[in-house]
Amino acid sequence: MKGIILAAGKGTRLYPASSHISKTLLPIYDKPMIYYPLTTLMSAGIRDIMIIVSKDDRAYFKRLLGDGKQFGISIKYAVQKVQRGIADALLVGEKFIDGDMVALALGDNVFYGEEMYEHLAQAMAESEGATVFCKAVDDPRAFGVAEIDDTGKVLSLEEKPSEPKSNWAVTGLYVYDKNACKYAKTLKPSARGELEITDLNKKYMDQSKLKAQLLETDVVWADTGTFDSLLKASNTIYEIEKTGREIVGCPEEVALQRGFITKRQLSEWVSRFKLNSYYEYLKMIIQEH
Ligand code: DAU
Repeated sequence: MKGIILAAGKGTRLYPASSHISKTLLPIYDKPMIYYPLTTLMSAGIRDIMIIVSKDDRAYFKRLLGDGKQFGISIKYAVQKVQRGIADALLVGEKFIDGDMVALALGDNVFYGEEMYEHLAQAMAESEGATVFCKAVDDPRAFGVAEIDDTGKVLSLEEKPSEPKSNWAVTGLYVYDKNACKYAKTLKPSARGELEITDLNKKYMDQSKLKAQLLETDVVWADTGTFDSLLKASNTIYEIEKTGREIVGCPEEVALQRGFITKRQLSEWVSRFKLNSYYEYLKMIIQEH
């Protein structure tokens, strides 16, 4: 199973905050945004990850995450030269995917909740088809929207409809079988000139091979592409971290829990940093592990 994180967008909705750097390197409360999708994939057991970045940002991502060894995973980087759309990730990443199943995560989507990781692991266990994860929202017009019948069948999918047929927003996490790259090659750019992920999902839907996993109310989901949603996500993470004794989106913790690294490796890693609340937390989990 491979994982891809898409982090090459221009992030124009966050200018000037992201005019000089990928928005996924901006912080959500106490850590860079990219830590959250990275941790989501790792929580489901994925250790082979490619991050798709723009040419200018590659050095920054490498400086932050390196080759992933500190988290017991492998991180590779691929440059998306032109922002041709989310589905282009399947073309940029084709060699890396190499006929495997793949979980595609958008770099600006944050998930939190034990059920979420279980759903993702379950979707990965299916050998055929694709899975999208849908969350009920008040106003879904800014998202892909799925119309779903009582049996869970996806009846229609629309990208950012002005008159949504349901409240089910399609979140930025997708699991695909080995056919995804083949289907992506047949896509045509949309009116806004992008290879739409919704069009790729429709290919699966048309063959009755698209599963919609509905996310429970206690699963937190945030698309952090605007000023308000970025701030709201930071506040949510702050609340969770201050009220519970945990840190959300912590790749080191997941790496230790899942046995990707040992306590000793984590101790060595933590010893490099000046202790702040993040690294104090890691010291604590090493002691408790
Ligand atoms: O957040 C969920 C939504 O994400 C879905 O409901 C929509 O169906 C889906 O199209 C997408 O909509 P957005 O308008 O939010 O996508 P955005 O253009 O913001 O891109 C999402 C991430 O992907 C962002 O981190 C930038 C990255 N990206 C995007 C494009 C178009 C790339 O790396 N390359 C690209 O070419």
